[in-house]
Amino acid sequence: MNDLIDNQVYLNGEYLPLSEAKVSVLDRGFLFGDGVYEVIPSYCGVFFRMQDHLDRLHASMKRIRMDMFYEQEQWLEILSPLLDKTKDQYIYLQITRGVAAKRDHAFPKDTLPTIFAMCSDIKPFAGVETGVKAMTMEDSRWEMCDVKATTLLANVLLRQKAVEQGCAEAILYRNDYVTEGAASNLFAVIDGVLITPEKTGEILPGITRQVVLDLAEKNAFKMSEEIISLEALQAASEIWITSSTREIVPVIELDSQPVGAGVPGPVFQKMNKIFQEYKKEYE
Ligand code: PDD
Repeated sequence: MNDLIDNQVYLNGEYLPLSEAKVSVLDRGFLFGDGVYEVIPSYCGVFFRMQDHLDRLHASMKRIRMDMFYEQEQWLEILSPLLDKTKDQYIYLQITRGVAAKRDHAFPKDTLPTIFAMCSDIKPFAGVETGVKAMTMEDSRWEMCDVKATTLLANVLLRQKAVEQGCAEAILYRNDYVTEGAASNLFAVIDGVLITPEKTGEILPGITRQVVLDLAEKNAFKMSEEIISLEALQAASEIWITSSTREIVPVIELDSQPVGAGVPGPVFQKMNKIFQEYKKEYE
């Protein structure tokens, strides 16, 4: 059993131990992956960029035609009791289309969504200090990657393939340009400019990505949101991946070739310092 076992979780209006939280096998999340989710960090009891996460959650729900909306206040009421204010943690929040009377691909009528939330500790990711290896792979996902859907089979298979090759992440490409990681967004430093692919249906609009862009702008980094070709990525002096749980992680080896000098680069060091300070001051 893992260390989550005694934690209280939230399920459809109740707080109960994780081991007692159960959903029906007819839940559409279980049968179809018919749901959306969020991963929201909380530093010492303060949710980080909460409204951004909730806006993305509501946008995801709208895109999959799930008619549900709570104000931030209602979400805070639900999620805050799960937090330990002395720790850095993240909430995993999942909402599915609920339990139908029978298995049918088309939407059931009058079902209530299933709402589940649990909290885990954020463990410092060693790769932030050392840098990580990554490999490129063809993006085999669907056309709605901007939806944070629980339907993650392609992402799971891509990440697993990377892990089996000793890599921390798969960096995905379509045709001749890169999109994002299997569970992260992508940044590259090319000719001294910090570049990230622009927001389209082909990437998740990451909250960490947006924080990095905001901080880059505020601190007068040369930056741009534009297409990055696979060829340009291979020649980049720095590559980073970003996500709520790992923050900003430098990639030091891509497809077995060193990125830049093969160590976390100077632009990363500068941005990570700014990011860590922003996190501390965030309230
Ligand atoms: N994943 N792109 C994909 C495909 C992701 O799954 C994630 C995050 C991101 C980064 O988004 P953000 O900065 O908002 O975390 C980009 C989360 C952490 C997960 O699935 O666990």
